Amino acid sequence: MQTALSVRNLYKVYNPKRASKTIAVDHISFDSHFGEILGILGPNGSGKTSTIKSIASIIEYEEGEIQVLGMDNRKKRKKVIRHIGAVLEGSRNIYWTMSPVENMVYFAGLKGMSRKDVKERMERYLHLLDLEPVAHKQVRSFSKGMQQKVAIACALISDPKIVLLDEPTLGLDVETSRKMQAFIKEIAKEQRHIMITSHDMRFIEKTCSRVLIMKKGRLIADDSVENLNHVFKKQVFKLTVKDHPRDALLDELRGQCEFRMEHHDENTDLFLILNDSQTLYALFDILRRYKSTLLGVDIIKDDLEDIFLKLVNGDGAVPGEGGKDS
Ligand SMILES: Nc1ncnc2c1ncn2[C@@H]1O[C@H](COP(=O)(O)OP(=O)(O)O)[C@@H](O)[C@H]1O
Ligand SMILES: [Mg+2]
Repeated sequence: MQTALSVRNLYKVYNPKRASKTIAVDHISFDSHFGEILGILGPNGSGKTSTIKSIASIIEYEEGEIQVLGMDNRKKRKKVIRHIGAVLEGSRNIYWTMSPVENMVYFAGLKGMSRKDVKERMERYLHLLDLEPVAHKQVRSFSKGMQQKVAIACALISDPKIVLLDEPTLGLDVETSRKMQAFIKEIAKEQRHIMITSHDMRFIEKTCSRVLIMKKGRLIADDSVENLNHVFKKQVFKLTVKDHPRDALLDELRGQCEFRMEHHDENTDLFLILNDSQTLYALFDILRRYKSTLLGVDIIKDDLEDIFLKLVNGDGAVPGEGGKDS
């Protein structure tokens, strides 16, 4: 596979000379390739956005080297950015007073392309993203999901080789999120490299082929989604029980799985990390034996924090299949 990006020892610090100094990216290295959809997964503040901004030449970094298509992104900045299409979270990526079509034509123009050059691509993206009915309406009135779709279409309109998407599904409903996933897979079929940051484990699992996991600026895993299956297959269930569970009960639970607790006045939430819902039945048995009253069971959708904060060892390694999931 041809190398698209090469990141060596990237080190990014905010306010390096002040007491408020923050090490956002702490010497990370990786290569990525054409045809790959690379996900960067990590809790908030782990350095995902800083990594993507460094690659896109939007911020400067203190140490390390980034090569985009074999070119140093500091020495050949102008050339490099011509090949990158990026959508950054929390940035203004499109113009609200313009329509999707006007935005696309404008962004194509920035890269030296005319409306005619991009006509076909524009029609295809409008179609794939269900934007045809609103193609000529001001983006201002759109939902967040629709605006995000327009931003992605604009990032892609000049047919960049490298596509960087920072939290593309943040704040999107399930349906739009699914559409986005299908769209990303579709555009990945063309000779392109796509990199997506997200704190949404399920989106990364379904969309990406390879995953980097970041924690506190460091890379703690770099592997295929398949090989990280032991992480992705875990789910977090919330069991609400009456009162505060007895120590003996908690000891038995500890023998079965990882969990954390939140005590409330009259009940307790247990957040359990499980491999499958089968284990749940064994846990119900334990509760029954201790006569603990189960008030509710929920699957936690936004489960990354729980899974990673518990599972990622202090030494930074993601535990493998070894051991009995404790
Ligand atoms: N402009 C900034 N100034 C100071 N600190 C920042 C800035 N941007 C990010 N940080 C800090 O850098 C760290 C990494 O942030 P970020 O790269 O945004 O992580 P993520 O995208 O994974 O949430 C965090 O501690 C964050 O507070
Ligand atoms: Mg971010």
